[in-house]
Amino acid sequence: MNITYNEKNRLFKLDTPGTSYCIGVVDEENFLGHVYYGRRLLDDQLTYLLRTQEAPFVPTENNRDRCSFLDSFPMEYTGSGLGDYREGTLAVRTTEGHTGVSLSYVSHRIYDGKEALAGMPAAFGSKESCKTLEITCEDSILHLQVILSYSIFADTDAIARSVRIVNGGSEEIFLTKVLSACIDMDNEDYEMITLNGSWARERVIQVSPVRKGKQSVGSVRGESSHQEHPFIAWKSPTTTEETGDIYAMNFVYSGNFLAQIEENQFGSIRAMMGIHPENFCWKLMPGESFQAPEVICLYSAEGIGGMTRNFHDLYRNHLIRGIYKDKKRPILINNWEATYFNFNTEKLLEIARQASGLGIEMLVMDDGWFGHREDDNTSLGDWQVNETKLEGGLKHLVEEVNKLGMKFGIWFEPEMISPDSDLYRQHPDWAIQIPGRVGSLSRNQYVLDLTRKEVRDHVYDMVAAVLHSANIEYVKWDMNRQLSDLGSYGLPADRQGELLHRQVLAVYEMQDRLTKEFPNLLLENCSGGGARFDPGMLYYSPQIWCSDDTDAVERLSIQAGTAMIYPLSTMGAHVSDCPNHTVGRTTPFETRGYVALAGTFGYELDVTKIPQEDRDSIPGQVAMYHKYNDLVREGDYYRIAHYAENHFFDCYEVVAKDKSEALVTYIQVLGRANCHSRRIRIPGLAPDKIYVVENAADWPELKQTEYGGDALHYAGIQVPPLAGDFRGRLLHLVAR
Ligand code: DGJ
Repeated sequence: MNITYNEKNRLFKLDTPGTSYCIGVVDEENFLGHVYYGRRLLDDQLTYLLRTQEAPFVPTENNRDRCSFLDSFPMEYTGSGLGDYREGTLAVRTTEGHTGVSLSYVSHRIYDGKEALAGMPAAFGSKESCKTLEITCEDSILHLQVILSYSIFADTDAIARSVRIVNGGSEEIFLTKVLSACIDMDNEDYEMITLNGSWARERVIQVSPVRKGKQSVGSVRGESSHQEHPFIAWKSPTTTEETGDIYAMNFVYSGNFLAQIEENQFGSIRAMMGIHPENFCWKLMPGESFQAPEVICLYSAEGIGGMTRNFHDLYRNHLIRGIYKDKKRPILINNWEATYFNFNTEKLLEIARQASGLGIEMLVMDDGWFGHREDDNTSLGDWQVNETKLEGGLKHLVEEVNKLGMKFGIWFEPEMISPDSDLYRQHPDWAIQIPGRVGSLSRNQYVLDLTRKEVRDHVYDMVAAVLHSANIEYVKWDMNRQLSDLGSYGLPADRQGELLHRQVLAVYEMQDRLTKEFPNLLLENCSGGGARFDPGMLYYSPQIWCSDDTDAVERLSIQAGTAMIYPLSTMGAHVSDCPNHTVGRTTPFETRGYVALAGTFGYELDVTKIPQEDRDSIPGQVAMYHKYNDLVREGDYYRIAHYAENHFFDCYEVVAKDKSEALVTYIQVLGRANCHSRRIRIPGLAPDKIYVVENAADWPELKQTEYGGDALHYAGIQVPPLAGDFRGRLLHLVAR
């Protein structure tokens, strides 16, 4: 890892273990241009790549033909309104109503380590593991400084980028768009990968050609959302899981975002990512600064899998924090699908008694324990225990659960308010609403205006009081509606455009407070399933509920999309009852266990009501989790086959970092008549090691149980057809 500045060529070069990223400073205008991003290079004489002499540009002595120059030049970070007709990354409005902004290089600094982003999640690293380049650019007319920050890491190829804007002038200025990163490069027939979905169908992998014009994904819903994901990748058409070029951007942010690729008239692309400009307008007073969130950029020459493993390492080593970061999580049983709102102390204890006997380690009480909430119409905001339902109180329940040797966890939805709540009756103006309009309800609730300090303090204090009242060791922080009706009673007219970003900052502030006041708490974020599964949230909670769809087959696709970026240790995954509550499908209990094993692993069912045969399998599944979880949490993840593409089977693998063992999960989704065995190639192993099938008893069909690492990768093994649908098997390979 190294960052250099070649004074003579005016070229910055950032070298990660496997990649180089180069930025050039151009001639007398001092524009910053993007020069190169790709495989690591020794050469740093790359300024010849800067497109400074391209037609139809006509150079003049001191002032280029600005429009044609700016409209084709590969900018490192753009202004707007002065001749570059592509969409830009920064837009402003002055008090006179003007919008032009243009940035030129002023100075830079290179330092060891990485500074935190005030009030915001960001990757971190020590002085030994990380280096940062900060380039200061300026619009000398507006006296606006733009500080571009790039951090690189010794153990992954990621580059963390962010932008800070400082108003050095004497008048306020309105920032109408501040994206966090931009990459201009030539299009080489790239295809774009995005993750799209809906409630219960999150993060489905989509591949589409990059074509002329703009292609974007984004959220204007106030959260990163079920529908689109703050991630884009672009890859060569020949890139596979194991080889080929791929570039990616992922946003360390949990609110509105825009991720866009624009191909221009000359076949160059501009990829960019940041806070969505819709409904964004930030008033920046003289002397103030605005920090835009961080984007993680990645290039890999080792295909989609190479990109994935780099993201996993970055997030495991440089984003996720807290005592559970590198630890096995307690196996929990959550009562949502078991009881929904219909529970009381005795019912929960009945579940806990059975569960503890089977080896389950924590009971989580989900929605419905507070106010008079018997359905989703009421009581959000009234975080007082409903003692009619929880007879004897919360402390009593927790003590009884603890006596069984189990931990106790609880659900909250702190950002919300029900119209039928004491809180709303007392403070109707605490909801986000446009004065004079009837507020739009979603799941029968409004969103609290957390931009107001008194509101977030009040809610935080209520949540903290509950947590102090009993031995609560886990919190599921839910968020079940997206934002609309954007109006805050707390913000002046010229700051209403700050509402959405301030709301996200407020959530971060509350979670920061929570994790500091309760450092031993296991926090799991959630948003109507997986609508806020993003790196911003991972900074506060080491795991996030992946989806409300707990069907094992649907989960294969949801988890494959999620694991394209996020480590398996972060994916909340539970075994639930069948027929599945969202899709009505019945799958073997064993298969449900295998699929949940690729996440945090837990249960979401009424253990007192499931078939005896299923109940009897739980101790075996618990043992399986304890046996494999270290490997699953810490290992390298490889996608081998994706059933959403082949329609019949799914297969993935986790390999220990030292290549001493690997766990392959094979799920035959649909059985087929008259089939040969299926050849599966198992990558990632040490080619010169011999691997033994440790669980050979589960594989009576295998002709041999010892294989060379290279044979497993290049020749593969033959998996026999399994009788029936939705059947799964694990293959545990251990180096001899
Ligand atoms: C949505 C979550 O994803 C579910 O797991 C559950 O907690 C419900 N909310 C409760 O309202």
